[in-house]
Amino acid sequence: MIIAIDGPAGSGKSTVAKLLAQKLGLAYVDTGATYRLVAWRALQNGTPLDSVDALRTVAAETLRNVELRDGANLTFDGSVIGPEIRTPEVSEATSIVSAHPEVRSVVVPEQRRLVPAAGAVVEGRDIGTVVWPDADLKVYLDASAEVRMSRRTDQHGSSDGIAREVTERDERDARRPVGAMRPADDAMLIDTSSVPAEDVVARIVKLLHPAPPGRLYAVLRAILAFLLRTLFRLEVEGVENIPKHGSAILAPNHRSLIDHFVVAALTKRQVWFMGKAELFKSRMGARLLTALGAFPVKRGRPDRASLQRCLELLRDGQLVGIYPEGTRRPDSRFEEVEEGFAYIAVRSGAPIVPIGLSGTQAVFPTGKKLPRIVKIRVVVGKPFRLIAQTSGVLPRTKLKEATAHAQERLSVVMNAVEPL
Ligand code: DC
Repeated sequence: MIIAIDGPAGSGKSTVAKLLAQKLGLAYVDTGATYRLVAWRALQNGTPLDSVDALRTVAAETLRNVELRDGANLTFDGSVIGPEIRTPEVSEATSIVSAHPEVRSVVVPEQRRLVPAAGAVVEGRDIGTVVWPDADLKVYLDASAEVRMSRRTDQHGSSDGIAREVTERDERDARRPVGAMRPADDAMLIDTSSVPAEDVVARIVKLLHPAPPGRLYAVLRAILAFLLRTLFRLEVEGVENIPKHGSAILAPNHRSLIDHFVVAALTKRQVWFMGKAELFKSRMGARLLTALGAFPVKRGRPDRASLQRCLELLRDGQLVGIYPEGTRRPDSRFEEVEEGFAYIAVRSGAPIVPIGLSGTQAVFPTGKKLPRIVKIRVVVGKPFRLIAQTSGVLPRTKLKEATAHAQERLSVVMNAVEPL
């Protein structure tokens, strides 16, 4: 089990990562300390911070002698590394040293070596994107600039130079060409500004172990999956793009009433679905849909209750299916993403998984009573994310841009799978 925790200075990474490791009985690896150690040694030796070849040598010679002790402490030459690498001066130098791609190419393999085979919580800037892209769960912590600065001030016992250190360092860390600080496309975003570390840890544990599907869901899903595979010769490409842990918005094109079942067949995890309220009119229909994780949404006007439900499910590590086109369009190609879809993605900060369905539009031909047995093909695309803004007023222009971005990314997958 590898859990990647990334984020800027003062986002609460270290506190959360240490607590989480303790709680899960996993090792804790602080990758920032490896860069700090290299910078500290460079400062001690008088190695210029722009002398790439010399820094590479310092990095290789230093990190060769770093080990993980008791699953939590990094040692250098046999002694636990102390507070000497945490001064503002070393922080500044570390950010400069770690911006050299040549230095990173020496440091990253050493960081991987420090991670025990039994698993770890690994903390840094590029763990989810570079060091451990296959991590079981990726978390990206952030907090408002004021909160991050006051946390650093508390750590150092003085605010001298902290504002400059933090902003300049974050900017440099985010802009460097290799290993830039950014959330991985499939990372869970958590804003820690007003959440105590223990609660952040509890949220991450919930992301790892979300409530499992009910028995009825599991049985119905298994039957549907069997029917789809045998009768409809369901063919799926890219199923590994559906995350095994954490929340995501599954975004299929919508051509038929059976699309929901096809998506549910793709994963044993429960897929919660927003379905238009009209589908819940008959008692039988409502029962079946509810058992299958659907919840009603009133269309044509903002439906706060269902929106709230959606955001809560995503917060709790669940998979939520939402049709980006809003409604069924049996006869057209993937065309327009609704703003409501982008709104949920922006407000939750959850990754979006595109799901291109093809064939389902022919299952219920208009005017015929019985379904037609046709081949169904599914392509699951790689997760991507929109800008995230989980609180505060969301400007209209930002929402429009996010909608256009979703449109562009989803179309690539949908148009590749849909027949012309
Ligand atoms: O997490 P930290 O503040 O101890 O990290 C110090 C610096 O090290 C940070 O400003 C950038 C760099 N760093 C990095 O480039 N990649 C990492 N995975 C971890 C840290």
